Amino acid sequence: MIDLKKIISHSKEYGFVFPSSEIYDGLSATYDYGPFGVELKNNIKKHWWQSMVYEHENIVGLDSAIFMHPLIWKASGHVDAFNDPLVDNKDSKKRYRADALIEDQLVKFQQKINKEIKKGEKRFGSKFEIVTFQKTNARILKYNDKIKNSKEKLNAALEKSDMNALNELISDLEIRCPVSGTSNWTEVRTFNLMFDTQLGAVADESNKLYLRPETAQGIFVNFLNVQKSARKKIPFGIAQIGKAFRNEIVARQFIFRMREFEQMEMQFFVKPGQEIEWYQFWKQSRMEWHKSLNLCQGNYKFHDHSNLAHYANAACDIEYEFPIGFKELEGIHSRTNYDLSQHQNYSKKKLSYFDSESNESYLPYVVETSVGLDRLFLSVLCGSFAEETVNNEKRTVLKLPNYLAPISVAILPLLKKDGLDDYARNLFNDLKIKFPCHYEDKDSIGKRYRRQDAIGTPLCITIDHDTLIDKKITIRDRDTMLQERVSISNLSDLIKERIGS
Ligand code: GAP
Repeated sequence: MIDLKKIISHSKEYGFVFPSSEIYDGLSATYDYGPFGVELKNNIKKHWWQSMVYEHENIVGLDSAIFMHPLIWKASGHVDAFNDPLVDNKDSKKRYRADALIEDQLVKFQQKINKEIKKGEKRFGSKFEIVTFQKTNARILKYNDKIKNSKEKLNAALEKSDMNALNELISDLEIRCPVSGTSNWTEVRTFNLMFDTQLGAVADESNKLYLRPETAQGIFVNFLNVQKSARKKIPFGIAQIGKAFRNEIVARQFIFRMREFEQMEMQFFVKPGQEIEWYQFWKQSRMEWHKSLNLCQGNYKFHDHSNLAHYANAACDIEYEFPIGFKELEGIHSRTNYDLSQHQNYSKKKLSYFDSESNESYLPYVVETSVGLDRLFLSVLCGSFAEETVNNEKRTVLKLPNYLAPISVAILPLLKKDGLDDYARNLFNDLKIKFPCHYEDKDSIGKRYRRQDAIGTPLCITIDHDTLIDKKITIRDRDTMLQERVSISNLSDLIKERIGS
C-alpha cells in the first residue's frame, strides 16, 4: 500500500485537498477540497445517491437542518453518552484518548509476538512449526494472555463508562507517553464530542444548540413526515448526505478523522422481527457496492461488533485497507426502535406506523448504513494511486473509476497554431455540455498527458494536422496509454461508452 504522506502531498499539489486556513498555519483536522477534489467528492455523492435512492423504489431522500432542537440530542443519548475517555500526560502536556493509548500498547505486544516468531524461524530453520511454537513459547503465551485480558477489560470499561478501570489498565500495562516517555498521567475523564453554540444573542444554557454529530437523527425526527408525504409503506428507507461535526480528541491521519466531515446515511425502517434479515441484506449489499468500485489497491473486510451498544441488536463495520491499516469505512447497525421510541418519549408525539396489511400499529425497527464521505474519498484516492515507469520515465496516475474522475475528457491540440487550437476549442465547446471537459494548449503533449494522468482523467483527445483533413482525432486511454485514431462523427457515443457509470 502507498504511503499516506504521498497521498497528502499529491492531493495538495494537484488540487484535491488543502489544509484548511493554511495561510494562518492551518486549523487542525479540518480540510478544504480543491478544484478536482470537489468534483471527485460530488461524483462520489452522485454515485451513492444513484445507487441508494434512484435504484431503490422504496428509498427516498432528505436534507434536514444541521441545527436541531437541543432535546433531540438528549433523547438520542448524545448529551449523556457521546463521550471519549481523555487523559493528559503532565510532563509533555499532550492529551490522548485513553482507549487509543491502551490499544496502541496492545499493538506493541503483538509486535513483540511477531519478533519472537521471527527469532524462532531463524533458530529452527526448516523444522520451524509456527502453530506449535505459538502454543509453547512462554513469552508468546504471556503476551497473548495480556492482550486477551486487557481487551476484555477495555471493552467492559468502555461499555460501563468506567474511568477507574481505564486508569487501572494504563497503570497495569505501564503505558508511557510517546512524547515525554513518562507515566505521569492525570486521571482519565470523559469528554463530550459534540460542539455547541448559542441560538440568538443571550448566551445561557437554555439557548444552547449543538452542531449535529450524525445526520441520522434528522431522519428519525422526520420519519412520519417523510412516510406520509412520500406515501411509503414499510419496509422503506430515508437517505441523507450532509455535514456532521465531532470534537475529536485525536484527529490525525489526514481526512480519515476530521472535526467537520460529511456522512452519507440511510435509515431503513422495517417491521419488528424482520430487522436481522434486513441487516444481513444491507451488510452484503453495501460490501458489494464498495467492491464494485474495482479499485486497484486495498481490500475490504467485515468487523462484526461483539460488544453492542445498548440500543443495537447487531452491528458491523466495513473496513478498508488504508495506508494506516484496516480501518472503519462504513457502519451497518441494527438500531432496534430505540431512536424512534426515545423521540416519541421526549417529544410526546406519537411516531408509530399503522401497517394496513397486518392491521396493527407499531414503532418500526431500523437498520442503518452510515458511510463517511471523506473516508470513502480517501479510500478511492488511495486505491487508485499508482506510480509506474514508462519509457524510463516515472508517471503518477490516478486509476479512478472512470465515472468518478473529476474530468472525463481533456482536449489537447498538438500545437497552439495552424488552426489546431481553433479546431480543438470548437470540439471542446461541443463536448463540454455533455461531459466534464478540460482544454489545454500549453506545454509539450507529454507533459499535458502526465498532468491529466495525475488527476485521473480517463481520456485525452489530441488534435493534429491530419485532423483538419480526415476529421479524425487521437484518443488516449489513461490506464493502458494506448492511442487510437477515431472519427469525430461518433465521438460522443464513444466517450459515453468509455466513461460508463
Ligand atoms: N449514525 C451512525 C454513526 O454516525 P459512526 O460509526 O459514528 O456511526 C459513521 O459514523 C461513519 O462516519 C464512520 O464509519 C466513518 O466513515 C464516518 N466518520 C465518523 N467519524 C468521523 C470523523 N471524525 N471524520 C471522518 N469521518 C468520520
